[in-house]
Amino acid sequence: MNHIGTNSIETMRLILRRFRPEDTFDMYSNWASDIETLRYLPWGPHSDVNVTHRRILSWVANYEQANVYNWAIYLKTQKQVIGSISVEMSNDKEESCEVGYCIGKSFWGREIVVEALRAIMHYLFYEVGYKKIFARYDVLNTASGRVMQKVGMHYDRTMKDVGRRRDGSLYDVVIYVKYKDDLEEEPF
Ligand SMILES: CC(C)(COP(=O)(O)OP(=O)(O)OC[C@H]1O[C@@H](n2cnc3c(N)ncnc32)[C@H](O)[C@@H]1OP(=O)(O)O)[C@@H](O)C(=O)NCCC(=O)NCCS
Repeated sequence: MNHIGTNSIETMRLILRRFRPEDTFDMYSNWASDIETLRYLPWGPHSDVNVTHRRILSWVANYEQANVYNWAIYLKTQKQVIGSISVEMSNDKEESCEVGYCIGKSFWGREIVVEALRAIMHYLFYEVGYKKIFARYDVLNTASGRVMQKVGMHYDRTMKDVGRRRDGSLYDVVIYVKYKDDLEEEPF
């Protein structure tokens, strides 16, 4: 593994870059305060903008660690940060990691996360050296499953009753995977 931390990646429509303290307002207004956007995420809406600010400051401090991969998704046309995409868990021994992502609901349906996920998978496979990338979604969050399919990930397994939603209900998780060796099969 060659941990190099969160470096900027530019795609057609996006700049994936480190969070900055001045992203607080964009993050709060575009996704961190919106219950619908966060429905399937483990954390609930921030009560006020200071919560978001503190979260960003802790992320900024974490960038000192070379094995932290946490990008702000900046949409060039809007000149705004509209979401995040990150490595949620890393297993260096198995050379595998799990990724997660979120963008505000005004930006859904334009394959923005597909574009971001393709770019970071390329980075994680070829710059960092992971061999296996996982992603998981709450079985009800089929939109997230579509993103995984569109980037060429393959269904791996479903785990029953692995967690509780914020409303207390139990949920199943669907896991998708992409191996580095698969990449040649897919147009990137
Ligand atoms: C799930 C999510 C990442 C999809 O990102 P996206 O950039 O909108 O992805 P796509 O444009 O490829 O759309 C994926 C699917 O979302 C659904 N979708 C698209 N536009 C939508 C909209 N306006 N409202 C609701 N669902 C929508 C469709 O099912 C679509 O699949 P299709 O293209 O086969 O019709 C995004 O909705 C999101 O960030 N949601 C909130 C956070 C979250 O749930 N993260 C994933 C945790 S596992």
